[in-house]
Amino acid sequence: MRHALCIQAGNPTVTGGGNPQEHPMDSISELNIELHHFLIGLDDDWRRRQAAAPDPSLAAAADAFVADWEPQVRARLDATYARLSTTVEAADDATRARAAEAHRLLIQPYFLTSRFCRRCVDKPLGYAGDYGAVEMIYSGTETDPAPIGRLLGGYTLQTGPCEAHRGRLPWTHARLAELGVERPRLLSFACGPEVVLRRWVEAGNTADIVLADHDANALAFAQKELQRVIRRTKNTSTVRTVTMSAREVMVDPGAIPLLGGPFDAVMVLGLLDYLPDAVVVRFLKALSATLRPGGTLLTSNLTGPNPWRALMELTSDWVVAHRTVAGFEALVSATTTLAPTRTDIHASGVNLYNASIRL
Ligand SMILES: C[S@@+](CC[C@H](N)C(=O)[O-])C[C@H]1O[C@@H](n2cnc3c(N)ncnc32)[C@H](O)[C@@H]1O
Repeated sequence: MRHALCIQAGNPTVTGGGNPQEHPMDSISELNIELHHFLIGLDDDWRRRQAAAPDPSLAAAADAFVADWEPQVRARLDATYARLSTTVEAADDATRARAAEAHRLLIQPYFLTSRFCRRCVDKPLGYAGDYGAVEMIYSGTETDPAPIGRLLGGYTLQTGPCEAHRGRLPWTHARLAELGVERPRLLSFACGPEVVLRRWVEAGNTADIVLADHDANALAFAQKELQRVIRRTKNTSTVRTVTMSAREVMVDPGAIPLLGGPFDAVMVLGLLDYLPDAVVVRFLKALSATLRPGGTLLTSNLTGPNPWRALMELTSDWVVAHRTVAGFEALVSATTTLAPTRTDIHASGVNLYNASIRL
């Protein structure tokens, strides 16, 4: 079953590439060079303004620079990345590798002046999508004071993939409300900073919550923030944490009892995109043992066409599996323990959210 969902607007058109007669400029190297020149122009303008601004008004000059350029940056980058995404996706592996190399040389250095993009590329905790990066996504704001970084990071945080990441919050809250359970037992696997349940508890809901993640840093942060909200709002929810990897769920017979349950709902948001198909099926099948019969599994995945795929992959080193609705639902059904009940697509078109029921 499919439902249209309108959370945010703004999906730039994906234009076709690869036909040199119709689109003489539409080649990967030309797009890289065009974008490089645009970024040089941006940099030049900031240097001019910097030179013209007296010291005390430099911060004001930076704010004005960001405000003046923001609409143009968005329009230009949306259009270029849509074309790059189409072209790179259709390219063979060798061409894609050359595109990535050229992009790293010509474009990525500008993006690395953004705190958010730098964290994505540096992976300070050793893996992509750590809880610090996810907190930045939910904040939606680039905090780097340098204006070029602020512009490019701010742009990245407002594109479809980040909008769609934030879009899982209202979607999940709606599904939790539909459980019709006053005090549900909830498991969030691969919880990261767990913004979704933090805000849900903040809104006055109560639950007995288990947070699981393979990263003890993420768990400590998520628990601290959730407990802070619970104390501040005098909420009676409970929180327990379990350090556990998806691999342990699949191969360690002692893992499932450690998670506890049976749960009314299990959330696995922002993890399955990182796993190959066969692992998704095996992992979900094993994890479904924590759900009560009739309980709900809530998941998400990148989907396409994704006009920002080249932005994700080439500038932020954020490479994940994109799945169609049919392909994703087939993986859930292949568990034989779960059945999809609804799949919604975020208005940006780049994330699917799935609810399934434990049989
Ligand atoms: C992109 S974040 C998603 C966070 C949160 N669920 C959300 O939707 O905002 C991914 C989280 O998955 C965790 N993770 C990644 N691979 C994992 C694995 N194999 N097993 C358990 N957790 C994993 C990371 O530590 C990170 O906290």
